[in-house]
Amino acid sequence: MNKITIAIDGFSSTGKSTVAKQIAKHLGYVYVDSGAMYRAVTLYAMQKGLISKSDFNIEALIYQLPSINISFKFNKSLGFAEVYLNDVNVEKEIRTLEVSSFVSKVAEVSEVRQKLVEQQQKMGKDKGVVMDGRDIGTVVFPDAELKLFMTASAETRAKRRYEELVERGDAVNFEQVLKNVKERDYIDSNREDSPLIKAKDAIEVDNSNMTLKEQFDKIIQLVKMTIEDCE
Ligand code: CDP
Ligand code: CDP
Repeated sequence: MNKITIAIDGFSSTGKSTVAKQIAKHLGYVYVDSGAMYRAVTLYAMQKGLISKSDFNIEALIYQLPSINISFKFNKSLGFAEVYLNDVNVEKEIRTLEVSSFVSKVAEVSEVRQKLVEQQQKMGKDKGVVMDGRDIGTVVFPDAELKLFMTASAETRAKRRYEELVERGDAVNFEQVLKNVKERDYIDSNREDSPLIKAKDAIEVDNSNMTLKEQFDKIIQLVKMTIEDCE
């Protein structure tokens, strides 16, 4: 069976990574969370004191980019690959609201994007990959056989993300999470380099009123149809 490339883009907390992991597992494909890579670079900038609420030393981050190594290692018990920053597992640390509050600023920097896009393209060169992010169908894999663009209302998305953070034990309130979701949507959609836009040939999936199962069933059907078309 021919292997294809599946690009999943969309707004924050639309269920991209959940469905991408399910599809990858179902097909025996590799799942790549491109957002985790931007989050890991952001964590590095925070650890080195390069970014704070009042300041962002972009030049220093660009200068230090060659010393930032992002990698993935498959975790058998979780069933997906976790992200490592300079060989340290940072899967948990990158999901905090603090990292979320800085990540879109870091993702605006073209030099950061260049480095990560190059690595993402290498990871997908043999196809058989499901990658989710903001520019996967437009920039990383413009020739992907299947492109999905996920949307849902901001309130629905913030509620989902809030529940996730509370479950992790993070002290956050709903208004903070909603503000962050809206801010990131705005910066990600309006930046100059690789803004979040729906690729012309992407299929839009609004899952505001879909359960995880309904979402998976719809998407796996699209995947199967695409694979059949490629045979
Ligand atoms: O999971 P969530 O939707 O909260 O975000 P993410 O996928 O972890 O991505 C975090 C941030 O990284 C996004 O808000 C974007 O600013 C940036 N990003 C990007 O610019 N390009 C990508 N391909 C993936 C993420
Ligand atoms: O990757 P992205 O930020 O787009 O979203 P996610 O991390 O896959 O999903 C965010 C949260 O929304 C997770 O807790 C999902 O289980 C939940 N979700 C949901 O309850 N129903 C959906 N149709 C999609 C996602």
